[in-house]
Amino acid sequence: MRMRIRPILLVWAIGVIGGMALQGRSAAQDENPNRPPSRAGLPPGQVDVHSWGNPHQIRVRHVSLRLRVDFESRTISGTATLDLDRSPECPPEADLWLDTRGLAIRSVVAPRPGGEPVSLPFRLEVPQVPEEERLLFPSGARSDGSPIHGTPLVIESIGQAEGRVAIAFETSPDASALQWLTPAQTAGGRSPFLFSQSQAIHARSWIPLQDSPGVRVTYDAIVEVAGPGVAGLKAVMSADGNFGTSRADGRRAPEPEPGRFSFSMERPIPPYLIALAVGDLEFRPLGDRAGVYAEPALIEAAAFEFADTPAMIATTEERFGPYRWGRYDLLVLPPSFPFGGMENPMLTFATPTILAGDRSLVSLVAHELAHSWSGNLVTNATWDDFWLNEGFTSYLERRIIEDVFGADRAEMEQVLALDGLRDELSELDERDQVLHIDLWGRDPDENVTSVPYDKGALFLRELERAFGRDRFDDFLRGYFDRFAFQSITTGQFERHLVDHLFEAEPEAARRIDLRSWLDAPGLPPIDEPTSGRLAAVDRQAKAWLAGDLEARELDTKDWSTQEWLHFLGAMPADLPASRVGELDRALMLTQRGNAEIACAWLELTIRAGYGEADARLDRFLTTIGRRKFLMPLYKAMVDAGQLDRARTIYAMARPKYHPIAVESLDLLLGDPGDR
Ligand code: BES
Ligand code: ZN
Repeated sequence: MRMRIRPILLVWAIGVIGGMALQGRSAAQDENPNRPPSRAGLPPGQVDVHSWGNPHQIRVRHVSLRLRVDFESRTISGTATLDLDRSPECPPEADLWLDTRGLAIRSVVAPRPGGEPVSLPFRLEVPQVPEEERLLFPSGARSDGSPIHGTPLVIESIGQAEGRVAIAFETSPDASALQWLTPAQTAGGRSPFLFSQSQAIHARSWIPLQDSPGVRVTYDAIVEVAGPGVAGLKAVMSADGNFGTSRADGRRAPEPEPGRFSFSMERPIPPYLIALAVGDLEFRPLGDRAGVYAEPALIEAAAFEFADTPAMIATTEERFGPYRWGRYDLLVLPPSFPFGGMENPMLTFATPTILAGDRSLVSLVAHELAHSWSGNLVTNATWDDFWLNEGFTSYLERRIIEDVFGADRAEMEQVLALDGLRDELSELDERDQVLHIDLWGRDPDENVTSVPYDKGALFLRELERAFGRDRFDDFLRGYFDRFAFQSITTGQFERHLVDHLFEAEPEAARRIDLRSWLDAPGLPPIDEPTSGRLAAVDRQAKAWLAGDLEARELDTKDWSTQEWLHFLGAMPADLPASRVGELDRALMLTQRGNAEIACAWLELTIRAGYGEADARLDRFLTTIGRRKFLMPLYKAMVDAGQLDRARTIYAMARPKYHPIAVESLDLLLGDPGDR
């Protein structure tokens, strides 16, 4: 592979040289200035191997942002002023360690109330970790050779800073958290658009901070929008202050000054939940504390699709305790958003591919809403504990669906999830099949599998069964209360479970093998979920496959999206093109607009080599950037021996995909620039 110097590496190199030119190190550091503070004595489960931060010595607790969003240079520049807490054990000469990736650092100063700010020396370089602590620190490279975890910003002489430091910085145009869209990539086609995606470890590419989910911060921000064609654009954040809404204290957010917006998040959140979007946005209320933002062209469709949101909030509160964030709003993004949804607090970000027109895909709303309890309120302390976020949330998601749409739909979704999990387990390395996973040396983005989601949710479903629904709901409510606004490890969860559920009911506890659920690969024995409606679909699928039924005799007129997905999932991988064609002619599957159905169908057509869907596949892959759809479709092409075709489409689509999708696809297909 040809070595190319990328801007991100350049910024890094300049940082190293710039940092080295500065003087003023302490004696201890002079012995080995390039060494991070030791982590050897820290409680093992609490070490975050995806962050360079040293919160055990000095911890960031508030971030104050002054940002200028420039659509012309595709950069965000400004200052981040960090409020710091020093632990009592922190040695006086300790440095402050922050995470960055691709950031240019202009200056670091200690503001002085009533005096001139003092500049502080800093360095920006990947340090040498002593061999005996290798497993306690970030490690590993991305597909372009850059470090997965970015470059620490080490601020020296922080003792002079009296608890506050101001960093002037600028993002790189290819910051991994940011996607800058041209007008052509939006629904309206007239204005540019910007959105951030900080989970898992991308906050560091647009804000210098301790980018670890164990380090909670409050934040405030003033955002200015600049560049050609930006008049009328609105900025929104995962905070109080979004236009069209009232603030938590009941005051209506002031009409934004043209091009200038202010926000505040007063509840402590992990950095991966700091989020910003700028675009031509409109707002529609969905009730008195919920609403939706979207481009004008999509706002009606979005308000229709999400009409059940207030009912979802109400039922979750009733079962699992109060919604503690004030408002709950949704933001519909352009189609290149790499995820289905992202639970940014007070403002879920969502893909437009869930606007199916029939509310059939709103379990995604239930999911992101549920994160307001599991994830945003009680947060995984490290990415090894990711299942605490996603497993709990997938479990709550199904409970919400059951309450709002009925047990039939919840069961169908449970069966679909389990089928997906079993398929994936059959292909995953054993080490990736465990809930309490070890992600050392790896990019947490590349390990988003159905294990933390659906194996995690099944574990909770088994707990519910063993202890009874009422008892388990009480337990969950107590858990959210006990750990509200905290970040916890799998070990802390386990102790709480044993203390509050297992010891009170040892009889029921004997039915749960904790060690195999948390630490072992595979799936422990479960109560098999069933769905009468999906069983009926199975019977039809079998009859058609056996030739006992013609495609046009399939009784599909009342099928929900879930039944269609199950039907397509029941087709064997080696279904020949002629039979795929029979289905298409009778059921018009290539024409379907529902993105989930389209994706499942297109995967089948690729495996079969059914050419009639090629144009639809091209259009799908070049207009939608959701990684969940892109990965299986490109993979199916590779498996079907169509690597060249996959690469041709990818070369065309890549400039429009999000950096997170590009990273995954470069790993699968290679970077077209390297061939
Ligand atoms: N928090 C996740 C998305 C995420 C996970 C982003 C890991 C970055 C790293 C979000 O809540 C999520 O799970 N989204 C799912 C939808 C859901 C219905 C399963 C998605 O995007 O597909
Ligand atoms: Zn989630």
